[in-house]
Amino acid sequence: MERELALEFVRVTEAAAIEAGRLMGRGDKNGADALAVDAMRTMLDTVDIRGTVVIGEGEMDEAPMLYIGEKIGDGQGEPVDIAVDPVEGTNLVAKGLPGAIAVMAVAPAGCLLHAPDMYMEKIVTGSAGRGVISLDAPVEENLRALADRLGKSVTDITVVLLDRDRHDNVIRRIRQAGARIRLISDGDVSPALAACVPDSGIDMLMGRGGAPEGVLAAAAVKCLGGEMQARLVAEDAAQEQRVRAMGVSDPTKLLTLEDLVRGDDVLYVSTAITDTDLLDGVQYGPRFCSTHSVVMRSLTGTVRFVHAEHQLTKKWPNGRPVAQSRRKI
Ligand code: FBP
Repeated sequence: MERELALEFVRVTEAAAIEAGRLMGRGDKNGADALAVDAMRTMLDTVDIRGTVVIGEGEMDEAPMLYIGEKIGDGQGEPVDIAVDPVEGTNLVAKGLPGAIAVMAVAPAGCLLHAPDMYMEKIVTGSAGRGVISLDAPVEENLRALADRLGKSVTDITVVLLDRDRHDNVIRRIRQAGARIRLISDGDVSPALAACVPDSGIDMLMGRGGAPEGVLAAAAVKCLGGEMQARLVAEDAAQEQRVRAMGVSDPTKLLTLEDLVRGDDVLYVSTAITDTDLLDGVQYGPRFCSTHSVVMRSLTGTVRFVHAEHQLTKKWPNGRPVAQSRRKI
């Protein structure tokens, strides 16, 4: 994919974050999501791609925009798969809590796992975990293996998990092993990314979260050279059927990073809505607002942190983003 696309896509997540961030702490997660979806969809139309949404807001009959299968872009350029989450962590925005992002990943057509809306078991570490951790290994073994590779003690390892009853057993075992835990209420994409960044304060992400979020996280992990393994959790026959329909013949298959994101040409872009471990959230002023984003490209491994000041009177004259095509400038 053309490298210029990376900066085109950051405009898309910036617009979504600016819109959703307006409703921070207002208790309106659906409202924040709707604003972000609209902004993201508007901005995507300005990008020269022939894209298909493979992970989005749901099936065509349940989502008016950014639904799975929706064609995106101006129909030019090579065909690409697009995974989007205009607000990853809607509850976090509604409550004004840290960790909410607007996020997307793009790869050549057929390279992103078309994960349906179901749960996925995940384990993520930085590059140190490659070849030593396994989703199928006991949790204590994974902690020891990663600690050895990082040259630290298990008691120095920090694991992030969603704070859910389903994780009670694994939380108990991590505590018994002596590792540190950070429980999060929502939003497991951002900590997956942090687990791949040395000195972020997070060494590992574990547990069951959304499968679409798993693919978005995998795009970031691939760009950062980290390790991720996953398994879809089909909870009934209908979900098993959906897994098979997307081309995974064994729904219980252990998915490697390569199964989640094929090849080495994926772009990952996210903009913080509220503060995250690595990025400041959106700040609003009377005429300007500022955003912080990360843009990554697996082909080169370049990681860009983009701090943007947006002049609202020019870009949001009527309170809505104006889609300015590159060609018209
Ligand atoms: P939203 O869809 O409300 O943004 O929630 C996202 C999320 O917290 C993911 O980050 C996580 O993978 C998943 O939901 C967890 O699902 P559940 O709340 O059902 O445990």
